[in-house]
Amino acid sequence: MYKCALVLAAGQGTRMKSKLPKVLHKVCGKSMVNHVIDTLRKVNIDDVNVIIGTGAELVRESTEDKKVSYSLQEETLGTGHAVICAKEFLKGKKGIVAIANGDAPLIEPETLENVINSHINEKNYGTIITSIIEDSTGYGRIVRNNEGNVESIVEHKDCNEEQLEIKEINAGMYIFDIEELLQALDKLSNNNSQKEYYLTDVIEIMAKKGLKVGSVVAPFEETLGVNSRVQLAEVESIMRKKINERHLVNGVTIIDPSNTYIGRDVKIENDVIIYPGCILEGNTIISEDCVILQNSRIVDSFIGKGTEVQSSVILQSKVGENTHVGPFAYIRPESIIGDDVKIGDFVEIKKSTIGNGTKVSHLTYVGDAEVGKNVNFGCGTVTVNYDGNKKHLTKIGDNAFVGCNTNLVAPVEVEEGAYIAAGSTITTTVPSDALAVARAKQVNIKNWVSRRGLYHKK
Ligand code: UD1
Ligand code: CA
Repeated sequence: MYKCALVLAAGQGTRMKSKLPKVLHKVCGKSMVNHVIDTLRKVNIDDVNVIIGTGAELVRESTEDKKVSYSLQEETLGTGHAVICAKEFLKGKKGIVAIANGDAPLIEPETLENVINSHINEKNYGTIITSIIEDSTGYGRIVRNNEGNVESIVEHKDCNEEQLEIKEINAGMYIFDIEELLQALDKLSNNNSQKEYYLTDVIEIMAKKGLKVGSVVAPFEETLGVNSRVQLAEVESIMRKKINERHLVNGVTIIDPSNTYIGRDVKIENDVIIYPGCILEGNTIISEDCVILQNSRIVDSFIGKGTEVQSSVILQSKVGENTHVGPFAYIRPESIIGDDVKIGDFVEIKKSTIGNGTKVSHLTYVGDAEVGKNVNFGCGTVTVNYDGNKKHLTKIGDNAFVGCNTNLVAPVEVEEGAYIAAGSTITTTVPSDALAVARAKQVNIKNWVSRRGLYHKK
């Protein structure tokens, strides 16, 4: 059966009190709308259409690499109106459409899969996800008839006193038969307390027409919608807990899960140990036996087996096996660090490759460099990679030795096995087997201090 999806992402989210459209607020490092799109993809829905309006360009940019199409809702006149704006996308299609609010990122693919299966197996025309909660304030209430079938969804603001007591709420995620949905959309009106076109009214329209409407109850922890920053923090903590528990079960040690922040797409192999205050984001992979010590942030990076990272930042880079990073190292995008490497304290690496066994132990900047194997960097080495206009390359061959406080003025090459004396400013090639000394010779001016009357030896 053909399956497509709509993601409602046009609303402003007034209660967020933010310049940013609501669906772009992040949960565990990823925007809410992208969480929803990724979940839809996981249940093999290929055709995803995102309805944009408020901050349309921003939402489009942030979802760009998700290969979705867009419908524009110029005025946000309600969730029903949003779907009406996607009519062009739905027209002529036969099958089912999943509709999801862009502000409910906790739904699990398994739950969505269940709802789709139940919709198909029970031959429904509409299937909704509901939850039973103690405080249903703000949510649409599920009204059922005497047989227990869903009759309608009544928005909080339109509820009578009896309906306000209903604890079963609408999660904001639906499956519809496309053709019947299109017909029902034509009958929507904004005759309600908010003068909005409610998508939820489609349920009553279908039920009245005698079309079968079903429901699946999901845990509230999956259906929470974000309308305020209080709810954003709540959703964040639920997702964080779930993610961390998954890793704990898989054999990862997390010393303090309430203080460890791991994105949903991060992969961690077993026997990794993660200390408090770490943030692992994006498509990061941490291989077996790594130790990620306190306060490290790793984004979209690969960390090889047995590597230790301490209080450091690693962005869009690859780090090899049994390597030590930190404390206080900064590895910037497009760096490739080899095996058995040491990147020590206060070292910055930018867009560089560092060969196996190389040591960059302290206070060093390596930018736009190709560094070979077993190179030793003395303390305070600087690649002078920028001439104020362009960036230039530094090449350092295997087994080279760079003395303390050396400037390597790029473009420049240090050949294999060459040595550089401490304090040198290197501007031309250092050939293999040579020692480069590029500093002024020391001159001692005798009795200079006492002649000046600055200090007399007793
Ligand atoms: C909606 C449901 C409510 C349900 C709740 C679950 C309706 C009428 N009500 O209410 O029954 O319990 O979600 O969280 O659907 N949006 C648009 N265009 C608009 C308005 C909204 O794209 O014109 C988008 C928003 O960006 C958001 C989603 O639709 O992602 C939900 O909108 P929101 O205003 O938060 O709906 P709720 O009042 O929470
Ligand atoms: Ca909402």
